[in-house]
Amino acid sequence: MNEQLIKEFTARFGAAPEAVSQAPGRLEILGNHTDYNQGFVLSCAVGLNTAFAARRIPGTVCTIRDFRDGSEKKFDLGQIDKAAKGDWSNYVKGMIVALRRRGFTIGAFEAGMRSTVPLSAGMSSSAAFETAAGFALRELFDVKLTNEEWALAGQEVENSYLGLKTGLLDQFSSIFGKKDSIILSDFRKIAVLRTVQLPAGYAVAVINSMKKHNLVDSEYNTRRADCESAAEILKGIYPEAQTLRDISLEQLTNAKSALGEREYRRALHVVGECTRVHQAVELLEKGDVAGFGKLWFDSHESSRVNFENSSPELDYLIELANSVPGALGARLSGGGFGGITIHLVKKDEADQYAQKVCAAYKLRTGINAEYYICELGDGACSEKIN
Ligand code: GLA
Repeated sequence: MNEQLIKEFTARFGAAPEAVSQAPGRLEILGNHTDYNQGFVLSCAVGLNTAFAARRIPGTVCTIRDFRDGSEKKFDLGQIDKAAKGDWSNYVKGMIVALRRRGFTIGAFEAGMRSTVPLSAGMSSSAAFETAAGFALRELFDVKLTNEEWALAGQEVENSYLGLKTGLLDQFSSIFGKKDSIILSDFRKIAVLRTVQLPAGYAVAVINSMKKHNLVDSEYNTRRADCESAAEILKGIYPEAQTLRDISLEQLTNAKSALGEREYRRALHVVGECTRVHQAVELLEKGDVAGFGKLWFDSHESSRVNFENSSPELDYLIELANSVPGALGARLSGGGFGGITIHLVKKDEADQYAQKVCAAYKLRTGINAEYYICELGDGACSEKIN
């Protein structure tokens, strides 16, 4: 993809780029809505990437071209303090603002991008974009940050520039992903604790419901508020606890009457997900793929009932995973309220399985679902090229 991008860049701007970068999309394997509760997540980077090429130019006006559709954005570095509504260059402008806050000076540049990460599907195309842009800018303007700091800068683009109170999972997975591996991250320590292998012969099939809930952003923020208010009440009972991450299932059960019914279910989801993440690591170590897959079904059920971040379409895809032979586990992945499901399947049956599920989904909903058999890929990288 980079070769093609360099050629396109050179044809459009009349000179070769000085740096190229790429950052992958990600999949949340288990650990739903745990990141902003300082909890644990199993995730991976996928083999689908956003590539970004750039070179410095004089002046203050930057140009960015998306070579997928030929659209182009221009902005003046003196006028990027606020995001512009519906403008895809916000991800780049937001990153420049985040880097300035960290004391770096970013000059004018022209840039081009290409991506194979599906948009708005739950594979974090936005984290891939802001990370790829940031990594190219680091080559051009000598930005020195650790990978953890890069992930936090990307999260700041979402939180402060775009107003979405998302956690750190997306940027973190896009940066720290390891080929053929699932990473176990701790979002209190902000660290990868270890990597585990997806058992040989198995693959993750991503099936996109093609439906996104309209209220997705506000629903996300209200779920986060529910978790925080549940944690506040639990702190009154267990003073050593800072967030839901510190609460065990037993403690939660004992404190049930102190919580509202909804807060209890929200907390049960997060505490249950953290528990499932640890169980999953143990099962993978023992090579128990069936046990690992069952946790995916349990996770989805908890999303449906406790966290209420599923949708009729997502539920139907999981119902199909239970009836079409081949899936050891399946669940919604990412924020929810629409978007994608992930299915644990044998590699050599993955295509056939996904086609069957998509055909049945079309019969019931009339929707043509897209699917991807995902490779687990490496995290983001960048290089100077001249
Ligand atoms: C979205 C957010 C992440 C995370 C997931 C749910 O993808 O961007 O930070 O909270 O939802 O686990």
